[in-house]
Amino acid sequence: VGPMNEILKPLCWLIGHWKSIKAVGFYPTIKSFRYVEQMSFLSVGQPILNYQSVTWNADGKAPMHLESGHMRFDEGTNKVSLLTAQNFGVATVEEGLICDEQSLLLESVMIGRMSFAKKPFVTKISRCYTLDENGRLNLVMKMETDKTPMQEHLNVMYTKTEK
Ligand code: HEM
Repeated sequence: VGPMNEILKPLCWLIGHWKSIKAVGFYPTIKSFRYVEQMSFLSVGQPILNYQSVTWNADGKAPMHLESGHMRFDEGTNKVSLLTAQNFGVATVEEGLICDEQSLLLESVMIGRMSFAKKPFVTKISRCYTLDENGRLNLVMKMETDKTPMQEHLNVMYTKTEK
């Protein structure tokens, strides 16, 4: 792995391995739950960040939601795009702006799903990552389904475990 590609600089605060200190899921149609997560945004020297999120139930035993993807940067602008593939049969293209030096807001522009993916269908998602003054990262993930209007599904606080 060579030096970090210059294009990644505006998101250098996001790069690395993160572990949840508090991860909560909720939605009007489901029972609220807690979980644990390990997430990473890593560079292998390309102008791309490789993303991975692995979650387990609250006692850390049963794997739950898994997703991975790639973030590309629109050179010369503050626009980024994240492509994800998720273990329950959904794929997303999300785009957004690096709002300032410590936050990133992404919104889905395309959602794909397997023909036999579980209902209800997610029709829109957004993720907002914000770094706080103590170097902790917060994620607010909102979603819309064909049954329920856009609202929060996940709220996670992470600490960085390694660069
Ligand atoms: C439920 C989507 C991430 C755990 C759901 C539902 C959808 C959904 C569409 C069904 C809601 C309903 O029945 O009205 C997504 C998407 C995600 C995501 C698009 C990421 C982009 C996660 C993560 C976890 C999680 C990270 C936890 C580790 C759950 C659980 C339910 C649920 C436990 C309830 C399942 C049930 O009652 O059958 N999610 N989710 N989700 N999600 Fe997520």
